[in-house]
Amino acid sequence: MMADYAALVQPDRVHSAVFTSEDIYKDELEKIFYRYWVYVAHESEIPRPGDYCTKWIGEKQLIVSRAADGSIGIFFNRCRHRGAAVCMDEYGNANFFRCPYHGWTYNSAGDLVGVPYPSRYGEGFDKSTLGLARVPRVDTSAGFIFASMAPDGPPLAEHLGKAAGFLADFVKASPLGTVSLSAGTSKSAFWGNWKFVGMDGYHTNFTHKTVLDLRQRKAGASYNRGAGNSDKSANESWDLGNGHCRLDLTGRDKVAIGAASNTSIAAGIPDNADGHEYMRLMSEAYGDGAHEVIRRSRDVHIHVWPNLQLIGSQVRVIRPLAAGHTEVMSYPAMLDGVPDSINTERIRSFEWFSGVASFGTPDDTEVFERNQIGLRADYIPWLVLARGLTVAPQEDGSTVGNVTDEVPQRAQMKAWLRSMTSPEVS
Ligand code: FES
Ligand SMILES: [Fe+2]
Repeated sequence: MMADYAALVQPDRVHSAVFTSEDIYKDELEKIFYRYWVYVAHESEIPRPGDYCTKWIGEKQLIVSRAADGSIGIFFNRCRHRGAAVCMDEYGNANFFRCPYHGWTYNSAGDLVGVPYPSRYGEGFDKSTLGLARVPRVDTSAGFIFASMAPDGPPLAEHLGKAAGFLADFVKASPLGTVSLSAGTSKSAFWGNWKFVGMDGYHTNFTHKTVLDLRQRKAGASYNRGAGNSDKSANESWDLGNGHCRLDLTGRDKVAIGAASNTSIAAGIPDNADGHEYMRLMSEAYGDGAHEVIRRSRDVHIHVWPNLQLIGSQVRVIRPLAAGHTEVMSYPAMLDGVPDSINTERIRSFEWFSGVASFGTPDDTEVFERNQIGLRADYIPWLVLARGLTVAPQEDGSTVGNVTDEVPQRAQMKAWLRSMTSPEVS
């Protein structure tokens, strides 16, 4: 039975079932993940012709492949004969994918190019109609590859809207304007709902007590603990439209050689030969605006609805596995065209806050799992999302609240409700 979604998502509250119901999870796959634009991979994961990687949208495995002509195709990982997955490697380079079952062979553009013992098929057997099924719409923004399983609908640029500018900002910490997800993947899963992985400026001073303790120990008595994450802070929470949302923590960040990033989830610029060389390269690329370009890049803190987050140097990808089970793939984004040690620092900052064994993410995960436990105790089933509810949208449609407001949570629930109730992709 179809749930009454409008009754479950109200302006100031959301019903627990949105996070705990397996029926709703299955409907989310159909209505959101198998229709709307979803982040799939990054161009740097398949730089050369023949490169491929396997990824997932929901429960459907995909092959993201760079064809001989350089174009990107995304195929369902399913042999057109009797359905076996044709590729099991996470990454590779190949001219052909050969199915292990009966040897049907596809090229990197997905065409069926070989069928063993073809004489036993009749006249009407047409290989050209039996290529790997293609995800109908594929597009990129700043090197991020998105796919939509709906043949028609708004283009990616329209879906991203104001979020696109932040994707562009993120990659500009490189003087070449490109990043590579080449430093490995931090893989994890937790027993909680995928929608908990959001943008939340209210939890920092509580969930991340360990991080604050460590920062305080390092900075000493002068440290203004938690100042950036209170109702008095100048930091902001943003609804960018279409479910995209962000935190603006830039009030505290100043870019200078030798100074740590105040947001502490991005690397600073070291006061050494590599740090000075990096600034020289950035000034060459961006002129007088180089400091501002770096600040904007490392302060990107955005959720691109439904499944991509860019935070500091981190690219985080969220995949629902069940109502109460979520996979998170997290990548430190390496800057192209910079001295190695600059990227090493980015990996260190990633390890410090974002990796599975960091000081930050494990505390988030602990809370997400407690959330799932709590939401099942649903005698009173409502979650309250009323912080900053009175903030009015600006002229350009963005809503901007205090950093602790639940502007991002409401933005996502609004997009969720629209997707779940709309007969068309809109
Ligand atoms: S299932 Fe792939 S060749 Fe038979
Ligand atoms: Fe957190």
